[in-house]
Amino acid sequence: MSQTDGLEGVVAASTRLSRVDGEAGTLILAGYAVENLAPHATFEEVARLFVHADLRADRRAIPAATVALLREAVGRRALPMDALLMATPTLRVDQPVDVIAAFPTIVGTYWRLLNGHAPVPVREDLSHAAHYLHQLTGEDPTPGHVRALETYLNTVCDHGLNASTFTARVIASTQSDVIAAVTGALAALKGPLHGGAPGPALDMVFEIGTPDRAEAVIRAKLDAGERLMGFGHRVYRVRDPRADVLAAAAERLYSNGADRRVYDLARSVERTALRLLHAHKPERRLDTNVEFYTALLLHGLGLPTALFTPTFAVGRVVGWCAHYLEQRRDGRLIRPQSEYIGPVGLQYVA
Ligand code: CMC
Repeated sequence: MSQTDGLEGVVAASTRLSRVDGEAGTLILAGYAVENLAPHATFEEVARLFVHADLRADRRAIPAATVALLREAVGRRALPMDALLMATPTLRVDQPVDVIAAFPTIVGTYWRLLNGHAPVPVREDLSHAAHYLHQLTGEDPTPGHVRALETYLNTVCDHGLNASTFTARVIASTQSDVIAAVTGALAALKGPLHGGAPGPALDMVFEIGTPDRAEAVIRAKLDAGERLMGFGHRVYRVRDPRADVLAAAAERLYSNGADRRVYDLARSVERTALRLLHAHKPERRLDTNVEFYTALLLHGLGLPTALFTPTFAVGRVVGWCAHYLEQRRDGRLIRPQSEYIGPVGLQYVA
């Protein structure tokens, strides 16, 4: 492994948007500690802090061409994350903030079409988070559900130079447009080492089923060389602070009716996983990351696992747009070098 493998520890941009301190386990979002901002602010306020523009409800509608493409994607039984990735390039936007406004409509429209329901018309009287839930279900969500989702979206809106944000910045640095930057970021987000982790994390909790099975199931996974989804992080060497914010939000949600048994099971699985991970990799300091409680919170909101990664994108698109704007304003072309380790001097024979 070369010194820069995975660019670990390399500082590749200056940003005013967020600061991740992996040793202290803190996250600053546009100047505010995540635990101070995320559970209290509206998503609209957070978006304004990041992109310095208003998230307008009259920009929620998506073009007919986008809906037509989503209908086609249903024919192919595309996963919602793939549908979002395909549909984003068909958006027509005046400014980056309009991409943020349209994302819930894309995901909601596709989800309903995929499940044989007609899409629901866009509503301008709902908040952004409430509108997303309404687009999915066609029903007015409860204030408790809206608050829980809003806390989640705020918590994941930005996170330093993670893989998808780095992708967006590289694309922005070539002076490409915001739709291209966001599309590239979506492609990076969907991988299981990044935004694809919460679905498998919840699957593991369900596979375990009861607390007494946790030790045997997790031990078998680690012995088989598997990674436990929802644990470990490139930057954090302690508990991911976002996990605490989401755990508190999940606890509120589950104490208000959602199946409490799942919450208690997940807490117990987490304790066992941490104990076994510490024994398995004592030198690596593996701890709980944001995805474990993402899974729990989104499940408590009634979202199926296929919607976990697209919902992550509904929040993270704020950061992508903000980084796009910052890179276009302050940045140079991002063009690192590679170290050639292949052969030289071969003679080509036609
Ligand atoms: N379970 C078991 N072993 C692990 C885990 C895990 N979750 N994470 C790391 N390790 C082991 C890994 O196998 C490696 O062992 P070895 O040296 O024997 O090969 C060692 O720890 C170091 O891992 P690494 O791959 O160098 O760590 P990284 O910094 O490249 O990876 C990570 C970070 C998040 C990709 C990794 O911890 C992981 O795969 N976690 C599970 C997937 C996950 O939860 N992803 C969500 C990340 S947070 C949100 C986001 O960014 O989207």
